[in-house]
Amino acid sequence: MIKETLREHLSGNAPNLFVENLNPYAGTLAERLIDACGATFETVFFSNSGSEAVEAALKTAILATGKKRVAHAEGAYHGTTLGALACMGRGLYRDDFNGVLADFPEVPFADAKALENALSKEDVAAFIVEPVQIEAGIRIAGDEYLQDARKLCDRFGALLIFDEVHTGMGRTGTLFGWQHSGVVPDIFTLAKSLGGGMVPIGAVLMAEGLWRRAYGNYLRCEIHNSTFGGNALACRAALKTLDVIGASGFLASVRERGEALYLRLTQALEGSRLLERVAWRGLLGGIKLKDVNHPWLQWENVGLEELRGRPISGVLVMERLARRNILVQVCAHDWSVIRVEPPLTVDPDACARFVDAMGEAVRWLGENA
Ligand SMILES: Cc1ncc(COP(=O)(O)O)c(C=O)c1O
Repeated sequence: MIKETLREHLSGNAPNLFVENLNPYAGTLAERLIDACGATFETVFFSNSGSEAVEAALKTAILATGKKRVAHAEGAYHGTTLGALACMGRGLYRDDFNGVLADFPEVPFADAKALENALSKEDVAAFIVEPVQIEAGIRIAGDEYLQDARKLCDRFGALLIFDEVHTGMGRTGTLFGWQHSGVVPDIFTLAKSLGGGMVPIGAVLMAEGLWRRAYGNYLRCEIHNSTFGGNALACRAALKTLDVIGASGFLASVRERGEALYLRLTQALEGSRLLERVAWRGLLGGIKLKDVNHPWLQWENVGLEELRGRPISGVLVMERLARRNILVQVCAHDWSVIRVEPPLTVDPDACARFVDAMGEAVRWLGENA
């Protein structure tokens, strides 16, 4: 459906960039996104990627509040540009850039007390957090934690930013991940499936007044911009994606299929000495495995010294599934967790084949390692 829309768009003659004018497709998309929030958002800025959406969110928060620090959660993944990296969990992705990156405060995930300490000096522009931390190992922020974060941000004059680049657009069974908790952020980001998996597009939605406070006069209105952000083709893809996800029953079916998939997965893996937990929301899930402790199954013994110390179980399961043409991936910051994120349109037969293959792979590893 999305391909058809793109083909139709490309076969017409609509201008693509609408330089210095409002692109009507961007305008319609912004309106549709804001309407879908059912809450008070006012401005949408379009970018070409998730990292860029995060940059826009950070810059707006810094200018709108006049404060220069952004608190972020341990284990976070917000993208690979320098601003986003300054909010990234410690480790491989960011450590080579320490010293270049802004010195932003990191707080433990899901710890409201630590957040209170970080915000209490009132020098923090915003707290950025993912409603579900994916790369940290599918860690779901509880409703109470998000409610506390909302109250603390209000109390100390900080903005609350949700990074929904991964959790947005139906992945968790609601259009936006924050709609589970009902906690409304001041700013949130979207990207990835916003373009239907076909066309790069990111977006930042902001509460009333923020964009104006940050950039609101003739001199400043161009200081954050993007040449291709909100181009017509990307917006057409996003509008069609919203049609698909917004169709009656679509999100309910994501929730139902997610529940069925991960419950069956839990049953298939129960009893394995390697299983630590299965966590999920909608069709976003992860399986945490204990590591095998076999002298031959160490990275350095297979010539991969650079991976020394990293969990190996998940990667061995990944490789075994690949033989059956099933692709899974471990989480970037926690290799002991295999992420399970089928397409939102996945059918029950494919889920059953997956559960079977995963059950076999984990059993094989448990018996042989
Ligand atoms: C939560 C989150 N934020 C930001 C990003 C960065 O998005 P992009 O790769 O489109 O720059 C990602 C990418 O994986 C992500 O998962």
